[in-house]
Amino acid sequence: METINFANWKKNLINDSNNYNSPICVQYELTARCNLDCKMCYVHNQNSNKLKDQELSTEQWKAIMDDAFNNGMMFATLTGGECLLRHDFKELYLHLWKKGVYITILSNGILIDDELAELLKQHQPEKVRISIYGSTEEGYRNVTGHTGRDRAMNGVKMLRDAGINVQVNVTGSSYIAPDYINTLCYIKEQGFNPLLSELALIPKRNDPESAEHYMKPDDVVSLAHERNRLFRKVYPPCTDLPKIGGDCKKPCSFGMTCNAGRSMAVVCWDGRMMPCASLPSWDGPSLKEMSFADAWKITVEQAKKIVQPAECEGCAYKKACPKCVVMRAEDLYSGHCNSDVCELTKRLVAAGVKKLDKPQENDEDEFEH
Ligand SMILES: C[S@@+](CC[C@H](N)C(=O)[O-])C[C@H]1O[C@@H](n2cnc3c(N)ncnc32)[C@H](O)[C@@H]1O
Ligand code: SF4
Ligand code: SF4
Repeated sequence: METINFANWKKNLINDSNNYNSPICVQYELTARCNLDCKMCYVHNQNSNKLKDQELSTEQWKAIMDDAFNNGMMFATLTGGECLLRHDFKELYLHLWKKGVYITILSNGILIDDELAELLKQHQPEKVRISIYGSTEEGYRNVTGHTGRDRAMNGVKMLRDAGINVQVNVTGSSYIAPDYINTLCYIKEQGFNPLLSELALIPKRNDPESAEHYMKPDDVVSLAHERNRLFRKVYPPCTDLPKIGGDCKKPCSFGMTCNAGRSMAVVCWDGRMMPCASLPSWDGPSLKEMSFADAWKITVEQAKKIVQPAECEGCAYKKACPKCVVMRAEDLYSGHCNSDVCELTKRLVAAGVKKLDKPQENDEDEFEH
């Protein structure tokens, strides 16, 4: 009998669900509050502690989770802000777990203690992904405004020792750039393989135009080259560079090419539904006002209106370029790509970081930011 591993089984299920618009993956942003203040964070902002009363209650979250489950949810991600700050985190986690849902937790790790590790040991999640924001306490503070590197790494180790599938992530930003490679090496020295995700950031929801938190293109090229040299592989530099962009005469295609709004929904901390957490500003339906099924129908239709950049069709760099339309497009409806992204992709290919004919292996699942 042919056997299939979990990752491939999940991928196949998601691909099938994309064809039927079945919301098999749901991300729950339980809160916008956080115990850190990362300057680049797309959810948390300085005022979010004052917004606590706009968060959904325990009973509201449970009702949404029940509704999502009845509509086909099999994979749930609990995130924030810092989801472990919710007083009812364990209750909500167990509510999902008892339904047999595969659960991923995204956390900064600071609040992990013996009690939580024991609960997760007894009720295993699919995985826990912890972000580490610096190789030293000083570097950590430059990104997050607080110390916490040691507490976060202790959290990672507590989970590992409890037998939990734990992953360690480093998010690239201008603030971590000088410490980025050291942070990857620190994680490796502690006995973990860091996830190597795209170095491009997604826009902050409350300030989509701000650009100071993005890494500079020179840094992206040199840091991606160095991290690939240390942790993955670099290709020979490419000198015979083709022109960018395909045949723009074809009509643009509409809709997402990833899972967003096809098999994945995000329920934001205030109850709005979005196809994906990466979208800058989004007028999504509110689950405070309608059922999950109705909000999902609207979300699917909204996602179908996003326009894929015309230039990307047939472009020689398509495989080397970020898959995410939010990262590639000038904006969601212009139908054109962002020329800065094209230029950066070309530089990454020239430097041997990416290959024209090979999609970049990306450790980060498409549906989890
Ligand atoms: C919003 S956080 C919530 C979970 C948790 N507090 C943490 O920091 O891991 C989820 C993930 O998004 C990343 N992130 C934050 N701001 C981002 C941005 N502007 N672009 C891309 N990723 C970002 C974080 O580093 C983290 O890996
Ligand atoms: S720890 Fe996570 S949620 Fe908190 S500010 Fe940083 S990225 Fe945002
Ligand atoms: S965004 Fe990427 S795929 Fe699209 S035209 Fe530019 S280089 Fe090509």
